[in-house]
Amino acid sequence: PARADPTDAVAPEGMADAPVVRIGGVDVDLDDRELPRIIRHAAFRSGGYPYGKKLANKEGERMLAPLQIELLKLQTWAKKQGERIVIVFEGRDGAGKGGTIDRITQHLNPRSVRVEALSKPSSTEIGQWYFQRYVSLLPSAGEIVLFDRSWYNRAGVEPVMGFSTPAETARFLDEAPTLEKLLVDDGIRLFKFWLTIGREMQITRLHARRHDPLKRWKLSPIDYAGLNLWDAYTDAAERMLRATHTEAAPWTVVKANDKQRLRLACIRHVLLNVPYKGRDLAVVGGNDGRIVMDAAAFLA
Ligand code: ADP
Ligand code: AMP
Ligand code: MLT
Repeated sequence: PARADPTDAVAPEGMADAPVVRIGGVDVDLDDRELPRIIRHAAFRSGGYPYGKKLANKEGERMLAPLQIELLKLQTWAKKQGERIVIVFEGRDGAGKGGTIDRITQHLNPRSVRVEALSKPSSTEIGQWYFQRYVSLLPSAGEIVLFDRSWYNRAGVEPVMGFSTPAETARFLDEAPTLEKLLVDDGIRLFKFWLTIGREMQITRLHARRHDPLKRWKLSPIDYAGLNLWDAYTDAAERMLRATHTEAAPWTVVKANDKQRLRLACIRHVLLNVPYKGRDLAVVGGNDGRIVMDAAAFLA
């Protein structure tokens, strides 16, 4: 298929821009105040989530603070050592990328941590090497950079929405491991997180956004279209994980239906994999293997 006009402000023609999702043969309108009970009830366990109950907010916060202190030690160490750290967050709309990034950066010194959330490429960027606009944002010595979506757009939203051609995506999947190997060989510490949620959870989160004036900005026509392209995103994600899970730059998959557990798990994973000075492993705690796994285990 031809590439859609990247300067379009709205989703391409034919893409749903109405907030209606078809699930189990039923149309659910996100504008309705209440979602069908069956969706609300299925949300937490959807996609095979292993826990039956949310970690209480209080409990989550109590566990978060000590990990944020460890993150500060990591940042101080990185600054001193001239270390460069990149953390990529990928996942469907509503997977919780933004909220996780917020908790990571919350108490860090803003001078040496950056969040990058690029919008669609400009016409200048369209004319460049695909990776160029991301490469230009990589950290300098002492910096931590978090990507809220990344070059992996070309493996997910772009092919699913028709913004890239199949040939472009195939080439991307072939080249990304090469590029990442170059970065890692140059000393960059690269983390790649794939956050995975169940279908009913995605619907529940996007519904909540629709009805919360503080969250509504996060919704775009792409999200509405994506709700009905669940299987296409699933296929694209599997293909991406298979092609780009490498020894130099492995994917860490996190089951994300519980936001508190998600945030703690991502922070722990980073802390466990960076040898910063003063690391207190008793505080960091162990990896939660029920929700955190490498891509090979996830795909198996
Ligand atoms: P969010 O990251 O808040 O979910 P959107 O759902 O609007 O943002 O878009 C998802 C991703 O798709 C973003 O990274 C955005 O840059 C990208 N995108 C949107 N439109 C285009 C386009 N025409 N071509 C390429 N990428 C696009
Ligand atoms: P998948 O990743 O496609 O295997 O789906 C993960 C989860 O999403 C499933 O276990 C279901 O809970 C939910 N799901 C996916 N597709 C549907 C559907 N068409 N109807 C209801 N639930 C679905
Ligand atoms: C999410 O993953 O929650 C959102 O779709 C994206 C974001 O908040 O960055």
